Amino acid sequence: MNLKEIEKELGFPIEIVEEGRTKVIVPRMSEYLRPDGVYEPSHAPVFYNPRAKFNRDVAVVIGKALREELGRLDVLEPLAGSGVRSVRYARECDATKVLAVDVDPLAVKLIEFNALINNVYDKIKVLNNDANAVLHSRELRGGYFDLVDVDPFGSPMPFADGAIRATRRRGIVAFTATDTAPLTGAKPQSALRKYWSAVKRTPFSKELAIRVLIGAVVRVASVREVSLRPEIAFFKDYYVRVELRLDRGAGRTDQTLAQLGYLAYDERNYDVRVLEGFPLPKEVPKGYTVLGPLWLGNLTGPLSERALKYEEFPKVVEFIKRIRMEDEIGVPYSYKIEKVASLLHTHMPSPRLVVEKLREIGYKAVLAHYDHTAVKTNAPREDVFKVVKELSPL
Ligand SMILES: C[S@@+](CC[C@H](N)C(=O)[O-])C[C@H]1O[C@@H](n2cnc3c(N)ncnc32)[C@H](O)[C@@H]1O
Repeated sequence: MNLKEIEKELGFPIEIVEEGRTKVIVPRMSEYLRPDGVYEPSHAPVFYNPRAKFNRDVAVVIGKALREELGRLDVLEPLAGSGVRSVRYARECDATKVLAVDVDPLAVKLIEFNALINNVYDKIKVLNNDANAVLHSRELRGGYFDLVDVDPFGSPMPFADGAIRATRRRGIVAFTATDTAPLTGAKPQSALRKYWSAVKRTPFSKELAIRVLIGAVVRVASVREVSLRPEIAFFKDYYVRVELRLDRGAGRTDQTLAQLGYLAYDERNYDVRVLEGFPLPKEVPKGYTVLGPLWLGNLTGPLSERALKYEEFPKVVEFIKRIRMEDEIGVPYSYKIEKVASLLHTHMPSPRLVVEKLREIGYKAVLAHYDHTAVKTNAPREDVFKVVKELSPL
């Protein structure tokens, strides 16, 4: 079949794009523009977003590391869209099998063509069904998976329990969330409904978003005495992505729950306290805004270290290194330098210089992966303020 015939079969204009080592058929993006001329994935007959390529690159790198560790990789993608992610798992991670599911029959047709043109038709099974029906039915999905990748519109929470059910012990369950408004505190009531967490706007909202999402899925898993620990978790562009290692047992689950807690934030002084303790924080300082429950532990795990050898993905490797450095600092929030400067009634110095100065005086410091104007450091607040004042241009 040539492209013209495939286009006719699908009934919408198409083009071929390249991601990693994979070429896929997607809706012809120039046909689905917003009035301002920008491509709008949700206008297309089947969803494909080129801006999510980095998300898929990270997925492939972690998938490769898991494939190597297990000597096998059975993948389930319950909301597969164009199938680009599933095909990349099959081709680039050499997945042993992939089950791609979408409720939209047109998406299913496109996934089948994409599996065919990439010569992975024998590895990929495509199901036209509801994600939760498949996730919750062992019979429909045909067993358990080493990697379940949930990448829906908006919040992944409606699929969290099913995804956890479908994942093997020592496997990975991955979630993308694009509903950053609730997760960053722009819509606190929505955050309460979807993530059972108190989230307010802070200068380190993007870090809160990552930690609130992990905290929520950890609690969903605990119902089944399943523990989840991040292998890699981050905020990028317009989404949060978390990939978590799954294990079973009441003891392990209790250990993960012990890493939940709260942050207390005093807006007038940019003073942040870590409040350990779940379900109740050990103590709450007066006059502070309490945020959480959320995950206080690391955002990376051992698999992320093993993923560093995939140098054919230099941007991903650099990115993972940065998040691993943040974990070494071990502080679950950051200082947005602009905000510190404004509290000091002074001009903002270069955040990079602040990092250098903090290191010079013996602290650990890096720019946050989610905000290049925010500094993560183990320096006490007073020293961060002192350095910002010292370095400020006026
Ligand atoms: C954000 S897109 C998926 C993008 C894809 N994962 C990727 O990496 O390109 C979400 C997809 O979920 C599908 N979908 C929405 N609700 C669903 C449901 N309840 N069950 C299965 N698929 C669903 C939509 O048709 C759409 O194709």
